[in-house]
Amino acid sequence: MTIERRELPDAAAIAIAAAEEIARAAADAVAARGRFRLVLAGGHTPEALYRLLSSPPWRERIDWPKVALLFGDERCVPPDDPRSNQRMVRLALLEALAAPPAAYLPMDGAAPDAAAHYEGRLRGELGDDPPDLLLLGLGPDGHTASIFPGSPALEERSRWVVAVPPPTTVPPPIPRLTLTPPLLIRARRTLVLATGAEKQAALARALAETGEERETPARLVRRSEGEVSFFFDPAAGRALS
Ligand code: 6PG
Repeated sequence: MTIERRELPDAAAIAIAAAEEIARAAADAVAARGRFRLVLAGGHTPEALYRLLSSPPWRERIDWPKVALLFGDERCVPPDDPRSNQRMVRLALLEALAAPPAAYLPMDGAAPDAAAHYEGRLRGELGDDPPDLLLLGLGPDGHTASIFPGSPALEERSRWVVAVPPPTTVPPPIPRLTLTPPLLIRARRTLVLATGAEKQAALARALAETGEERETPARLVRRSEGEVSFFFDPAAGRALS
């Protein structure tokens, strides 16, 4: 497994490079299968990317009516809560698209049996196909999606979605839903985005030759069956060997 490391000058350059990767992956997936399944990351880092994707030229380059937008994780808050990932995606991406995507599957963290409910929707969308492109962020504690250090989700072998108790290592301390490694590692292409000095130690642990997933859950991408790239700025990459 070779992991691509791409250091880019700043967050804007990372957003442009990621948008190019997504546009390319979308064209390939639509040509091959008539559909592009994109798993969205939450948090703040991808917001600039989503705003880029919903503006020219990417808004026109991507065949949005053939795109299925899926979520990698969600905070269990109402959809209009400022901490909601689906609120961030709605404002930064969805509302600015000229045409709606083929499918839009936000996670409803408040639904009863929310994890199993979302898994059923995911399986309906994906069938036997893996996600085409998985976007992931990186927490300063080394988490990715909502798989936090020491999380039992790292040992999950069958379920694609699980509920997660409030994390103790990063804010906000609210319950989450997260995709799990059985699905995450099947993505054809994984793009991990990390910016800022606060991610320095976690990025170095994620990319080190040796280390433990329990300490740095982002290391789970090393199990990926697809291509994996980390895009980061100099501040996040400073501790890399
Ligand atoms: C979430 C995210 C999470 C995020 C990292 C990095 O719901 O919080 O999915 O995994 O990607 O915490 O967050 P920032 O991009 O805000 O640094």
